[in-house]
Amino acid sequence: MLTDSVAAESLLAAFVSRAGRDDPYPVYRELLALPVLPRLGDGSLMITRFADCSAALRSPDVGHSDDVGGARVPDWREHPALRLFGTSLLGLDPPVHTRLRRIVSGAFTPRRTAALRPAVAGVVGELLETLDGEADFIAAFAFPLPIAVIGELLGVPRADQPPFQKLARDWTHVLDVTTPRVLAKADAAATEMCSYLGDLADERRARPREDLMSALVATGADGLRRDEVVTMAALLFAAGFETATHLLGNGLVSLLGHPDQLRRWRSAPDELAEPAVDELLRFDSPVQIARRKALRPLLIGETEVAAGEKLTVCIGAANRDPARFTEPDRLDLTRAQGGSLAFGAGIHYCLGAPLARLEGQVAFPALLRRYPRLGRAGSGMRRISLTLRGYQRLPVTTGSPS
Ligand code: HEM
Repeated sequence: MLTDSVAAESLLAAFVSRAGRDDPYPVYRELLALPVLPRLGDGSLMITRFADCSAALRSPDVGHSDDVGGARVPDWREHPALRLFGTSLLGLDPPVHTRLRRIVSGAFTPRRTAALRPAVAGVVGELLETLDGEADFIAAFAFPLPIAVIGELLGVPRADQPPFQKLARDWTHVLDVTTPRVLAKADAAATEMCSYLGDLADERRARPREDLMSALVATGADGLRRDEVVTMAALLFAAGFETATHLLGNGLVSLLGHPDQLRRWRSAPDELAEPAVDELLRFDSPVQIARRKALRPLLIGETEVAAGEKLTVCIGAANRDPARFTEPDRLDLTRAQGGSLAFGAGIHYCLGAPLARLEGQVAFPALLRRYPRLGRAGSGMRRISLTLRGYQRLPVTTGSPS
């Protein structure tokens, strides 16, 4: 038992180290084999096995803790940037979550998402032009695409969209860093974004269109209040932009590192799009961690967890669990074993999963078709975060367009 906890301690030190953040998968492999749930520096129990992660995310005995900003920002409710997360779907438990989720699911339907395909294809086409020659794939493509797509979804006019890139980035920076400077910038960005979205909500209430904002304001008498509409719209930007950016960035790196798989996809770009995007999401998941708290005592695997214990649900490790996926460290774009935890599970399962998949299924085939000689042009720079896994900079060279 003592050796187990010594092993756990050194593994966790490796996990939070620079090298561990660059490539956590060797550490995950060893954590998955541990018989105990190791405890991270913040006191939380780390859950890695697929069955345990899935059960924890679905358990009614597991919910959210009231410390959105972590111990460093006890007055998080005073900060608009953090309050928006804490009072949004992502930070709420039933029954408040249940009501909001039901109303929003009625407006943000798979049908509405499917109708966006031509708009997504249009933005992909425009952005691909900017990749010609040498470019930073993140700045030129993977970052602007999701922001433009959420703008289209909500009905933000094209001309108003450019500032949203900076606002979304400044705001969500607080998820990693909560220094006073970052917090002040994030608060200003969140306030500006909400002010814009509030005006847009008023405009659509007066003159409805076909967009999601019009559907959100038209949810009826027991529907969403104005402030709830604004929080929901802002959350879509926060939850849907960087995650999708990392699907594109991590996915491209995985593909370029597996030439056999890349060749396979190039041979049938559209036919393979669905399983291939799901496999890229499993293989190197943009969201690596979901944080929770035990609301009541419960059993996770063999471990008894007391009420109030913090939990770190490690989606990235679960998606490489050999007990769930055959040869989990092999990228196989034709893998028939779907059902990874890349979009979470249970009541907080990603609301934007159909949209995220659509973005990947349109973007990768278009990219492969247009640039048959696409390659990396340097090592790039990883984003420093345990929760979100992706690149801040990813230089690529496209060769000449076909
Ligand atoms: C929730 C992943 C794209 C909107 C989640 C969760 C995960 C996730 C893991 C659950 C978090 C938890 O349980 O704590 C992803 C990935 C994406 C993606 C990997 C891209 C590849 C999007 C997009 C949107 C979106 C495009 C919307 C435009 C949401 C919302 C929630 C959520 C609103 C909260 C749902 C709730 O709490 O009920 N996402 N997401 N996501 N996602 Fe996504």
